Amino acid sequence: MEKIILDCDPGHDDAIAILLAAGNPKIDLLGITTVSGNHNVDNTTRNALSVCTAYGIKVPVAKGSPGPLIIDQVLAVEIHGDTGLDGPVLPPASFALDKRHAVDFIIDTVMAHEPKTVTLVPVGPYTNIALAVRKDPRIVERVKRVVAMGGSFTRGNITPAAEFNVYADPEAADVVFRADWDVTMVGLDLTHQALATPDLQDRVRAIGGPMARFILDIWAFIATTHGGLLQIEYPAIHDACCVAAMIDPTIFITERADIRVEIAGRWTKGMTVCNFEKMGGMRHFGGTASEQTDFRHTVAMKLDHAKFCDLIVDALERLTRQ
Ligand code: BDR
Ligand code: CA
Repeated sequence: MEKIILDCDPGHDDAIAILLAAGNPKIDLLGITTVSGNHNVDNTTRNALSVCTAYGIKVPVAKGSPGPLIIDQVLAVEIHGDTGLDGPVLPPASFALDKRHAVDFIIDTVMAHEPKTVTLVPVGPYTNIALAVRKDPRIVERVKRVVAMGGSFTRGNITPAAEFNVYADPEAADVVFRADWDVTMVGLDLTHQALATPDLQDRVRAIGGPMARFILDIWAFIATTHGGLLQIEYPAIHDACCVAAMIDPTIFITERADIRVEIAGRWTKGMTVCNFEKMGGMRHFGGTASEQTDFRHTVAMKLDHAKFCDLIVDALERLTRQ
């Protein structure tokens, strides 16, 4: 079983990531931590608790950072609505938050488990993860790996250059990509292949019941907001891709690269600049020799969409039956 902490900002696709993690027997969901991103942290936390309440998911939920490390808060209200999860109707949360701040929950949980057994899965801005690294750097050595939704090597979705999770806290992303741990970037290049196609929607409809309705309502809402900027035909199920990779590592083709986060660019702030080893990688990023390239990051390139859909349907069926 893969032990994970899901750090999220629900968020429509975040909610699907929660359900996939809770509904697959290969995942041991140690806890959910929340962050400001798609909406403020009060709303993302309430949404996480409501999803867990609605579908009987009994894991600790710890509330995290109310805003980015340095820049002003950026929300995705135009995509996720005024509640952060507009569209579907969820019950009010009926269980209590973990008493710890998300940052302490992450540190405690990683340190309480055997070395190299816990994977961090951030699918919102990386503020909590960066603060945890700063507060207790021992976690860098201790975690198994980080599988993060965010970034892109082709184009952005909030600016031409930047993807939302990185743009919303670029300094935090910089901390995460510079730390000496194993990071996989699951960026837009990959998640724009993880679409809720009509065929997938039909399979979910066939499951029936409130959870299937919830997922269909998520996609119906996102279909109205994801808009022309993204030029994708159906809603992207971004965040669930990271969980899917934890369940079945063969679901992506990956490549090695050196990834740097642009934190200063006037037009490119939040860009993830990828130097791919396979494409003949530049020996230097520029600057001093100490900034020499080291291809230690993994980039998700190609998704097996059929396998991905099977995992989503399988998790929803299991949770519906239980
Ligand atoms: C990311 O931004 C959010 O809106 C989604 O939940 C996802 O994590 C995609 O850019
Ligand atoms: Ca998210």
